[in-house]
Amino acid sequence: MDADPKAEIENLRAQIAEHDRLYYKEAQPRIDDQAYDRLKEQLADLETAHPQLARAVPSVASVGDDRIDGFVTRIHRMPMLSLDNTYNMEELIDFGNRLEKRFPEDSLRYLVEPKIDGVAVCLTYEEGHFTRAVTRGNGTEGDEITANVQHISGIPATIEDAPEILEVRGEIYMRHAEFERINAEREANDQPLYANPRNLAAGTVKLLDPNQARERRLEIALYGIGACQPEGFFSSQSAIHEKLAAWEFRVLEKQWLANGIKEAAKSIEALDSLRQNFDYPTDGAVIKLDDFRLQRAAGSTAKAPRWAIAYKFEAERAQTRLEDIQMQIGRTGAITPVAILQPVQLAGTVVARATLHNEDEIRRKDLRPGDTVVVQKAGEIIPQVLSVVESERPGDSQPFDFAAKLRELGIEAARDPSDSAWRVLSSDAPALQMRALQHFASRACMDIANLGTAIVEQLVLRGMARDPADLYSLQTGQLLELDKFAEKSAANLIDALEKSKSQDLWRLLHGLGIPHVGKQSAKDLAAAFGSLDSLAIAPLEQLESIDGVGTIMAQSLVDWFANPTHQERIDRLRAHGVNFSSANTQTASGGALSGKTLVLTGTLPGLTRDEATQMIEAAGGRTSSSVSQKTDYLLAGEASGSKYSKAQKLGIPVLDEAGFRELIEPA
Ligand code: IVH
Repeated sequence: MDADPKAEIENLRAQIAEHDRLYYKEAQPRIDDQAYDRLKEQLADLETAHPQLARAVPSVASVGDDRIDGFVTRIHRMPMLSLDNTYNMEELIDFGNRLEKRFPEDSLRYLVEPKIDGVAVCLTYEEGHFTRAVTRGNGTEGDEITANVQHISGIPATIEDAPEILEVRGEIYMRHAEFERINAEREANDQPLYANPRNLAAGTVKLLDPNQARERRLEIALYGIGACQPEGFFSSQSAIHEKLAAWEFRVLEKQWLANGIKEAAKSIEALDSLRQNFDYPTDGAVIKLDDFRLQRAAGSTAKAPRWAIAYKFEAERAQTRLEDIQMQIGRTGAITPVAILQPVQLAGTVVARATLHNEDEIRRKDLRPGDTVVVQKAGEIIPQVLSVVESERPGDSQPFDFAAKLRELGIEAARDPSDSAWRVLSSDAPALQMRALQHFASRACMDIANLGTAIVEQLVLRGMARDPADLYSLQTGQLLELDKFAEKSAANLIDALEKSKSQDLWRLLHGLGIPHVGKQSAKDLAAAFGSLDSLAIAPLEQLESIDGVGTIMAQSLVDWFANPTHQERIDRLRAHGVNFSSANTQTASGGALSGKTLVLTGTLPGLTRDEATQMIEAAGGRTSSSVSQKTDYLLAGEASGSKYSKAQKLGIPVLDEAGFRELIEPA
């Protein structure tokens, strides 16, 4: 390019500033780290080539800025710097060579640490007492997030024999399992999904309501210090780790001491193969000179220390064709666009679909059916469509028109301004009716065999069924009109429908598709009320008093039952003889866990969550998702996390798998 370097530099700076804003303030990055780092590199190269155009002092924003309204700003006693980074081994060796030249007399030892992909945090201790937690902000000052981190385990309230003032630094992050739990819940409630654990962690520490933050499990790992008075308390990076662990901070689970940069490179490789089994995101290694005397002598630039470097691992990616953008309709009507891809091999699996989250995401990336796109699977998680290969774009291509696509599919929908999701407007939309019937018939609800997707589609398109109650009016003669239906299949379906009438109340309740009422809540409600009729007339306060039912769900139930269409539907179900009562009110009374509430946390060595839940229910107990005064036992797979510490605080007995088995199957 022969463009004007001044204009190019300005353009790059503007792009970088915009990506900083998206990453730090909105936790919604549009490009991945590698693409961002490339922009920074281009800018640095241009600035080196045209020093007269470089900024005399790097702007404060050179480490981004995560500060947002609604938080108190706090100044860091010592700035929180960033790290230089590289994606290749030669540059790492160069880094080592520079230090060797600088310190010819010393044999250099490095500490190699995992680079966790989360949000940086600074914890301040004054006279051994934890006083606050602050985000990196712009490096000089950040947002105080103490209330949102209070429940994270691994942050001691007091530390013994501590320096008068100590800033302890580390990373707040989220495990994959928790990320997936929250996204699954959001999917069930038709809320837009989070793209990755880092964004969700960043969004969580910046929630204005600490009670909401408490409902998402965050983790922390501390790996460094900032200000320390008196100075000289620590002599090396490895000494910091030891001391932090002794003070009972949560620290990195793995690190390597390496003699010389070549050995450090070996440790990075070891980390790269190990991290595949970490259940949290790591995007590289951080290589730090161990000795503090040498660290001080090496010093820092305005942006980053000269004694450390980040080596970043490349995510696996591939190019493929975006064949189509389909609309997936959730059970309560939220519409999620899905990329249909030409199947491509990526990180060990074949990727053929990827969620595109929402309309804004498609517009930001300017994705168009027919485009060649770059897809990425960052280790283990959901595949992402990263960007378009614009050079491969067909000449006649037009921007994707979300609204037009919905019209073309005959979906009447509107955009919800609160969360940028489109929702189907009328419950009469055929697509929504199909979705509702499929849900009703599914195994997690009324479990109606022989009522698959293809049949549901035909029933709706031919006007034979619009809602679950209509299913029970179907006649054999009608069914014979359907494609591929003969006497036998018609009789089977009629038979399955008949059988489903006696399913337990919770299955019916789950099947009705009341927003926010999932499987477990349906069980809780069925057990608490015993019949659909008592539930239908329950006032808000009574609903809220039930363990596991929050305000949002309670309000949703009241609204749902107040709707005349739903009342009429219930009347028709009743007329068809569908069971409205629960056999489970006194489930397995006399069982070892009769009347007991258990909360599950962590992974059990020999049982899946579903298996444990089934065993609890079979023994007459129930499960709940949060620890409260009403919890009788915590069944914990690992002795960590907020549920564990809360249970301990409340004096609730904690069981491991063996203890649990003993309790329900006494020898
Ligand atoms: S050291 C001046 N160590 O990566 C030293 N950072 O890209 C700065 N990070 O802001 C940090 N794991 O948020 C360090 N083991 C580790 C890290 C780590 C993750 C993050 C941290 C930092 C960013 C720099």
